[in-house]
Amino acid sequence: MIINRSKYSIKSLLVVTIILVMTGIAAADEWEDLASTPPMGWNSWNTFRLEINENLVKDIADMFVEMGFKDAGYEYIVIDDGWQIGRDDNGNILASKDKFPSGIKALSDYIHSKGLKFGIYSDAGTKTCGGFPGSRGYEFQDARQYAAWGVDYLKYDWCYTGNQSAPDCYRTMSEALKAAGRPIVFSICEWGTSKPWLWAKGIGNLWRTTFDIRPCWDCGKKVLSKGVQVENFIGFTKILDLQVGLESYAGPGHWNDPDMLEVGNGNLTLDENRAHFSLWSILAAPLMMGNDIRNMKAGILEILTNKEVIAVNQDVLGKQGVKVKDTGDLETWVKQLHDGSRAVVLFNRSEKSAEITVSWTEIGYPSKIKSFVRDLWQKKDMGTFRGGYKAEAPAHGVVMIKVMPVTK
Ligand code: GLA
Repeated sequence: MIINRSKYSIKSLLVVTIILVMTGIAAADEWEDLASTPPMGWNSWNTFRLEINENLVKDIADMFVEMGFKDAGYEYIVIDDGWQIGRDDNGNILASKDKFPSGIKALSDYIHSKGLKFGIYSDAGTKTCGGFPGSRGYEFQDARQYAAWGVDYLKYDWCYTGNQSAPDCYRTMSEALKAAGRPIVFSICEWGTSKPWLWAKGIGNLWRTTFDIRPCWDCGKKVLSKGVQVENFIGFTKILDLQVGLESYAGPGHWNDPDMLEVGNGNLTLDENRAHFSLWSILAAPLMMGNDIRNMKAGILEILTNKEVIAVNQDVLGKQGVKVKDTGDLETWVKQLHDGSRAVVLFNRSEKSAEITVSWTEIGYPSKIKSFVRDLWQKKDMGTFRGGYKAEAPAHGVVMIKVMPVTK
């Protein structure tokens, strides 16, 4: 009898151990695979600022499915600053009842019911940039709350942080998220001031490299920061320039973040919007839409859902594209893809359309090689070319191609 019972318990112990090990492996994989390609989604900030509410966010989730964004690969719906209102007596973070009467869990459930993921925003300081409660001192409690709400993505800002150390603060929240036990993509938003590309791999999945983007070609607003004049609101071409040199720090699970998309916002022309989207794609940047996808001008949906351009961004090799030629107004950007092909953006910054030539040697191929070229905006096979390729890029615009060497 005793022998039988001990046999039974050894068996059940084994089963339990196997289950535990397998769950452990599954959980480890889920963390491992977080942001293995650049995150894609939508964030409320660029258009709605602090004016967010649950109906807006639910509409956006509906649009993801109805307009083909989900099908194109967009996944995360992130509410930025402005959802919080205060803390209760136990220190639990509270969402505004006016903006989110059904509560954050209900919103998260709604987003999940569409097969999408839900993201939220907080700040490493005492307050968010919009003046709402930050997570300073509440990191573990907030992380547990996010996990209980079913949060899948946290953007973590850097206002009201005084003399705090950025690596320490972001490490604390990273540990808090891990302790809470739910895989949550961790988006570091300290604007590049302490060079997060040098320390943030392993702490977060993406890190902002600059101050905030604005929906303009090259505007900028100078402010005084710690006694130094810096531009804190900048157009997309200025942000682009600041990405040069950061390429080697990006890879699967850890991305440079040149800020959210302004495609469809402000007075950007269609060519400028196409250029912005092509360049963010070739940079392997997170593709977080920032426009009102319920009301888009003609042409914007086609830009945001161009699957061939998105495939360049999402390529599994995870290489950030590099600028290989710059003649002042005309630039060539190249991204290595997993199948040996290259994506190339020919970027014309001038006010007139211009012919741009790319030689195969510039993109890392032997000069004599024959390559097949496909134009990703025209969605057209252009033929095979020996030595290189040239095309007319519109003013403030791009030509984006995929180049595949012909082996036979
Ligand atoms: C900072 C961030 C922005 C946005 C706002 C919210 O400026 O860089 O992306 O999150 O705060 O207040």
